[in-house]
Amino acid sequence: LTRWPGVIEAYRDRMPVQPDWTVVTLGEGGTPLLRAPHLSGQTGCEVFLKVDGANPTGSFKDRGMTVAVTDALAQGKQGVLCASTGNTSASAAAYATRAGLTCAVLVPQGKIALGKLAQAVAHGARILQIDGNFDDCLELARKTAADFPVTALVNSVNPARIAGQASAAYEICDELGRAPDVHCLPVGNAGNITAYWAGYRAYLADGLITAAPRMFGFQAAGAAPLVHGEPVTAPETIATAIRIGAPASWGPAVAARDESHGRFAAVTDDEILAAYRLLSAQEGVFVEPASAASVAGLLQSAADGTLPRGSLVVCTVTGHGLKDPDTALLAAPEPTVVPIDPAAVAAALELA
Ligand code: F0G
Repeated sequence: LTRWPGVIEAYRDRMPVQPDWTVVTLGEGGTPLLRAPHLSGQTGCEVFLKVDGANPTGSFKDRGMTVAVTDALAQGKQGVLCASTGNTSASAAAYATRAGLTCAVLVPQGKIALGKLAQAVAHGARILQIDGNFDDCLELARKTAADFPVTALVNSVNPARIAGQASAAYEICDELGRAPDVHCLPVGNAGNITAYWAGYRAYLADGLITAAPRMFGFQAAGAAPLVHGEPVTAPETIATAIRIGAPASWGPAVAARDESHGRFAAVTDDEILAAYRLLSAQEGVFVEPASAASVAGLLQSAADGTLPRGSLVVCTVTGHGLKDPDTALLAAPEPTVVPIDPAAVAAALELA
């Protein structure tokens, strides 16, 4: 067994990183591609989960952040800045710390999951809560980075982020020996669907795969601008990670859909929560609500016939369930309290 070196070293020739740059890595990538027996049975497809919550900070953002922060360090930046619904801020904070750079994050007040906030705090980021949504935060971050170029903007509008995140598509093709027929993703700011499509296109161009997948992008029904074809001014969903009304990578996301003969569709919060519970209770994979949107979309597409039976499908589950403990504990029963007594344990467990 050899050690996984992180995505820059794993895919050196595909990364915009010069040989003499110091690589800032936390060992991201190389995440499990897990067969999903229950979902396969339910859909009549062969379903795999790309478990990107297994990255160092618990989300796929690390794949792009290693490249963005490596680039910022090489450019002599003093710090990094981002807008975030939570995961980007957690990842930026960790990689900036590793690089010895400062990190400032702009987050929508009261709309970021507890675990993500805890990470930004733990890594010592400057956290500014904005009285607005993610779209407001991103506009502010863009303006600030333009006016103060000592700081690097590490949102997915930074091409280094996209190049890094394309590594997930390379890993999937390398492991399967082909591309899936269909790739399902949750879509918020639309950087990840852009990155996957760039990755599959690169492998296709180099003859490493003979066909690219159809890209299926799923948005929360209350935050589905790409589905409606116009921005949403007041996006709302329990999946706070994708509570976004004006995706920055709108054009590339539409191109990914059109070129791959894919689709965008909306999933309701109830469908997201049902998929969230199915993943944790049946597949043993605990994800955050936004990640379950890909699986909610898979189930919806299988049910409405837009997903052909027998397809090889990969669903990316983008973030770890521990990111959002509040949602996990929604409607959870109170734990049973028992005395220090084996008989009481046996009685509580109804052991015969
Ligand atoms: N899933 C999770 C867990 C996310 O955190 C995000 C985005 C997405 C899916 C959607 O990816 O934006 O590339 O379409 N989170 C960003 C953030 C916006 O700030 O952490 P996308």
